[in-house]
Amino acid sequence: MAGKEKNEAAELFSDVWQRGSYSGFSRNTSGETSTPFLEAFLRHVRALGMPRPRVVELGAGSCDHALRCAREDFSTTAVEYSGVAVAAARERAAGYPNLSLEIVQADLFAFTARLGPDSCSGVYANSVFHFLSAEERRTQYRILRNALVERGVLGISFKARGDALEARGSVVRDTAAGPVVQGDDGIRRLFVERVDALADEMRVEGYAVREVVRWSVPGYNISQQRGEFVGIFAAR
Ligand SMILES: C[S@@+](CC[C@H](N)C(=O)[O-])C[C@H]1O[C@@H](n2cnc3c(N)ncnc32)[C@H](O)[C@@H]1O
Repeated sequence: MAGKEKNEAAELFSDVWQRGSYSGFSRNTSGETSTPFLEAFLRHVRALGMPRPRVVELGAGSCDHALRCAREDFSTTAVEYSGVAVAAARERAAGYPNLSLEIVQADLFAFTARLGPDSCSGVYANSVFHFLSAEERRTQYRILRNALVERGVLGISFKARGDALEARGSVVRDTAAGPVVQGDDGIRRLFVERVDALADEMRVEGYAVREVVRWSVPGYNISQQRGEFVGIFAAR
């Protein structure tokens, strides 16, 4: 996928933020401060035993998970494309002046290209890499592996099943990991059916896959149904 399409997803999501129809993946739910995926990320980073580890959240949205990382005393950088999301998150973060939380408005592709070698203990992206093509994911794995310290961890999560955008959308491509569905918001997302295919992509780029986490949220965006999610943790 060329750069044009990648910015399309970010631009389309920016419109969603602008319209006020979205305030974050788990804003005002218990998932704001804790999910099995977020807890696993914190555990993997803590296990490195480093004082004040530096972590980066890509596509941070409301920045609630970045805020949680900062509260764990991680030196945290949140990267988000939408100016609306960034303004709201900065206002909220101002209430926590003692935390080490930097909120950067940027395209994640431009941001990661500038990361120095061995500069991060952990990189986290919750429900963001599903916008990326297989080729873009591979490029990011390569760039991020270089940015991670030895044994540093990359955690990425995806939607799996039970999602209104998938139900209303149409499949535009079948991939080894699952279908790419274009939603009625115009955004293309990968819905993961075969997590092994994603894990293999990371292994090919030299990562050791440490853990796969599955979790579900009752009535996530379809009442009476569970929204199902899957996350992968892989270490340099
Ligand atoms: C589904 S939301 C998840 C937000 C957040 N990770 C959370 O857990 O609440 C995806 C976020 O990624 C952002 N995003 C999409 N493409 C991006 C890009 N190329 N660079 C930076 N942010 C991007 C969107 O603006 C949106 O806030």
